[in-house]
Amino acid sequence: MELHLDPQTLDWAQRTARRFEHKLQAVRLRSAEKLPARAIDGVHDDKGDGAPRNPDDGLCWWTNGFWAGMLWQAGHATGDRTYGQIARYTERRLDQALQSYLGLHHDVGFMFLPSAVADYRLTGDADARRRGLHAAILLAGRFNPAGYIRAWNDIPGSESDTRGWAIIDCMFNIPLLYWAGEETRDPRFTRIATTHADTVLRHFVRPDGSVRHIVEFDPETGAFVRDYGGQGYARGSSWTRGQGWGLYGFVMSYKHTGAVRYLAAAQKIGEYVLAHLSPDGRMPVDFCQPAQPDYRDDIAAAVIACGLIELAGLVPGKAGVYLPPALVLLHHLDETACWDEGQDGYLCNCSADYHGTLHNVNYTYGDYYFYEALLKLTGQELYLW
Ligand code: GLY
Repeated sequence: MELHLDPQTLDWAQRTARRFEHKLQAVRLRSAEKLPARAIDGVHDDKGDGAPRNPDDGLCWWTNGFWAGMLWQAGHATGDRTYGQIARYTERRLDQALQSYLGLHHDVGFMFLPSAVADYRLTGDADARRRGLHAAILLAGRFNPAGYIRAWNDIPGSESDTRGWAIIDCMFNIPLLYWAGEETRDPRFTRIATTHADTVLRHFVRPDGSVRHIVEFDPETGAFVRDYGGQGYARGSSWTRGQGWGLYGFVMSYKHTGAVRYLAAAQKIGEYVLAHLSPDGRMPVDFCQPAQPDYRDDIAAAVIACGLIELAGLVPGKAGVYLPPALVLLHHLDETACWDEGQDGYLCNCSADYHGTLHNVNYTYGDYYFYEALLKLTGQELYLW
């Protein structure tokens, strides 16, 4: 990726990345044996604490790869090997998730790309490769030949029939299949990934460039049945994190395949996002939400910033279109982040979803994408996706 930053922007990005790492040196000591999903009152929780949970919580929780991903990125950027040692410990704990199998669903991409596959890419470790391929086989096994990857398993206690459900977030899981295809030279993986991406292109991306969160297909025929608002405000609205998964996800499909239809899709979603960004960089949970309550989502801001920075480097002559809004988002995150080294999280204004109760909270995967965006700017990113 060719990005030419002005000296002032580069200086800010470098200082902010170093500030992130300086705090991480303290956080990693406190959280070395945890699998953090978020910081609660400044203290990382631990998804591996053994507490009784639903099958897809605990060790199978979908964000459990991001702590390792943050550590591998920091190890790569700083040359400090302690980061990799903690990341490897996290990765080994996730073996139990692979063994349990029943709690895993399509988010094995989010779980194993930033942990095991990152390890393999950096160190060539044979066990890390095996874990990555195991996860890729599980993701490939969720493919319905009617044309999509099934998102979730049956939801306990729910009437919903999720056999036909696919969600936009999966655009960020399929890079695991691209990696497995590249690693094994077996085209099955890539074919499944592109078939799914083409289905998303047809049925999730609306004419105005916004994307749906959940689409239900007939699991026998693959015919479109209906869509759902999912974690956004309402059916037909535009959940901002979903716009980010679509934008950055199609960028990844383009980078792995070279198919220009995916780059065009990312640009189309990008145009929609740019038209709806707030000039001050504050990110709502949904671009269609009412003015009040002012629910926000820093994770969406970080993911969208990553996607826009990628587009700035990929689309000739468009850096001036995509880079400035990404910088507005990142400066806002910098200004509102928690830089107190005594507290474990960074981003403070994340939301799980619009209608849930978790607003103005921290999430580790948001912290991860914030850091990844900074490293894209400094040219120190470890390519994980
Ligand atoms: N993948 C679910 C989320 O972004 O919350």
